[in-house]
Amino acid sequence: MKVIEMNRPLSADNAMTVSLDYDLPEYPEFIEGIRRAPHRESRLSMADKALAISNALRYVHPDHHKLMAKEFAEELETRGRIYGYRFRPAGGLRGRPVDEYNGNCVEGRAIQVMIDNNLDFDVALYPYELVTYGETGQVCQNWMQYRLIKKYLERLTDEQTLVMMSGHALGLFRSHNLAPRVITTNAMMVGMFDSNDSFNRAAAIGVANYGQMTAGGWMYIGPQGIVHGTFNTLLNAGRIKLGVPEDGNLAGKLFVSAGLGGMSGAQGKAAEIAGAVAIIAEVDTSRIKTRYEQGWVSGVAENCEAAVTLAKEKQASMTPFAIAYHGNIVDLLEYIYEHDIHVDLMSDQTSCHVPYDGGYCPQGISFEERTRMLSEDKETFRSLVDRSLSHHFELIVMLHERGTYFFDYGNSFLKAVYDAGEPGICKNGENDLDGFIFPSYVEDILGPQLFDFGYGPFRWCCLSGKPEDLDKTDEAAMNCIDPGRRYQDRDNWVWVRDAKKNKLVVGTQCRILYQDALGRMNIALKFNDMVRKGEIGPVMLGRDHHDTGGTDSPFRETSNIKDGSNIMADMAIQCFAGNAARGMSLVALHNGGGVGVGKAINGGFGMVLDGSERVDGILRMAMPWDVMVGVARRSWARNENALETAAEYNSVFGASDHITLPYIADENVVKEAII
Ligand SMILES: NC(=O)c1ccc[n+]([C@@H]2O[C@H](COP(=O)([O-])OP(=O)(O)OC[C@H]3O[C@@H](n4cnc5c(N)ncnc54)[C@H](O)[C@@H]3O)[C@@H](O)[C@H]2O)c1
Repeated sequence: MKVIEMNRPLSADNAMTVSLDYDLPEYPEFIEGIRRAPHRESRLSMADKALAISNALRYVHPDHHKLMAKEFAEELETRGRIYGYRFRPAGGLRGRPVDEYNGNCVEGRAIQVMIDNNLDFDVALYPYELVTYGETGQVCQNWMQYRLIKKYLERLTDEQTLVMMSGHALGLFRSHNLAPRVITTNAMMVGMFDSNDSFNRAAAIGVANYGQMTAGGWMYIGPQGIVHGTFNTLLNAGRIKLGVPEDGNLAGKLFVSAGLGGMSGAQGKAAEIAGAVAIIAEVDTSRIKTRYEQGWVSGVAENCEAAVTLAKEKQASMTPFAIAYHGNIVDLLEYIYEHDIHVDLMSDQTSCHVPYDGGYCPQGISFEERTRMLSEDKETFRSLVDRSLSHHFELIVMLHERGTYFFDYGNSFLKAVYDAGEPGICKNGENDLDGFIFPSYVEDILGPQLFDFGYGPFRWCCLSGKPEDLDKTDEAAMNCIDPGRRYQDRDNWVWVRDAKKNKLVVGTQCRILYQDALGRMNIALKFNDMVRKGEIGPVMLGRDHHDTGGTDSPFRETSNIKDGSNIMADMAIQCFAGNAARGMSLVALHNGGGVGVGKAINGGFGMVLDGSERVDGILRMAMPWDVMVGVARRSWARNENALETAAEYNSVFGASDHITLPYIADENVVKEAII
């Protein structure tokens, strides 16, 4: 161990063996055509600006402070944040095969694959600003942090844990080989400061990172991650609201929505897989181009008339077809209303968790004007957003009256409309305390049909990077599912059977597959066995935080919890702590997620399968826990399908686990007792 001479002024330089290299990297070139984040809100005082610059300089050797202080000040002024562009490795990043990374344990190398995949030009929304998806969801705050994280992951052994706080690597601490290798938290603000304004200040001075869900949880797998959930939502909406039979699909039905970004980009693909015709409005040409080139939309229309004509043609021939309409969703809905077009299903997936920070482009201005106004005239921009959201709401109400089923798809759209000055969107007509007049997709569809049974967005990445490993895992997963058990199992079985054909991979070789607790555990054990036998390389398991037990969010994941506990965040925190206690390789806990700061607490995990018996043991403990904590909470809230699932779990796992079930009170007994 290095001895520090205490009679000299303490210098970080002689007290650290892990730090950024002394020499400054060359300032990298920015590649034309790569999307760049707009100017972020930062209303900083002079003292705060000084704080932001000295905070960023903590990563840099003092010999370079003069130069870097200027560079950081410039970034703060022009971008609203300090990203430390100089420290970005040159060229494109991508999740490479795990063996190409340095490290002292497979987890240290595997986590680097996941981080780099989150920053891949093809995967990330604003790769230069470390934004993976959801307008503001970052891997970490700046490129100095990225470099430091990599250094620690290269050093990490299986007897240590890396502690991550909002993108900052606090350090490596001794633990043991059954402990997580990385514990990360993002934007966990103290209650009285848990607001967008405080977050924006904290992010601008460099102490808070918006992790969204899998951006800061390092488990993003491109838009594929959301396709399966969107497919499930659309298909089940069809079953519940349009009378589609359990073995039918959405042939001939029209779905209209907005957004072809990171997550929203999945809408067209999911609609096509479900058999529907979709028109998805998108204001940003670059995103339409990306989705079209990836084959995630099948056609592009430059005006409303062309979009609707093409949709009608495809509906008539019952051909699944996703159309990108280049323009504003509000213009499209106006056209649809005026021309009396029947829409079966409707939603929205603009980034309404941050409508005033660029997430929602108001009607009447182009995408380019929106970007300019964000940095030059924020006040006018805000009023345009409010006006557009109000009109958007009005059109939805009118189309709803003509028989369209509208649902909020987890982007805080309903809340944004309310915040824009429309109390009419609230159930009680005054405030959002009793929820909104339109359902959240979880409340009506995903919650009762999937989460209450424990079905959620399980996923895996083949760390070898080999497509043949993904083929083998697809087949093994399919063989673990009994398609005859429930219609959900049949949907999942068909999903994984057709996954390759549907060309879902963007970035590393990953797969999303909704599964319940036991399905996840069985598939995980099977994969670990395949790794042990050398049939495939190591695998990273994970899930979206958006899951049965991973997220407390009253307007989204927990919107179908009706015992009053939807304002509590105990479940997500228990889930995270329990996953850490059981030895998942990476555990993450975030504030915000898809709906914005202060509106959700969510967590996730990453689990590296190295073929060992140690991993078998962790999987048996952790995989059921990760899901059943959510089912147990949902059954305690008296959700019918969760009650059934929890009772079944007690009967199968009674020797080791036990869930408390509620007695159900007779409503009349309760009513009569009220004084
Ligand atoms: N339901 C879920 O499971 C889930 C999961 C992740 C994210 N989300 C939420 O969904 C939202 C979208 O996520 P994303 O990753 O796609 O974000 P994104 O910012 O990458 O994409 C949103 C897209 O909407 C477009 N857009 C904005 N206003 C528009 C308008 N008026 N008309 C047409 N297009 C418009 C933008 O140009 C952008 O391409 C976010 O709020 C996110 O938090 C939901």
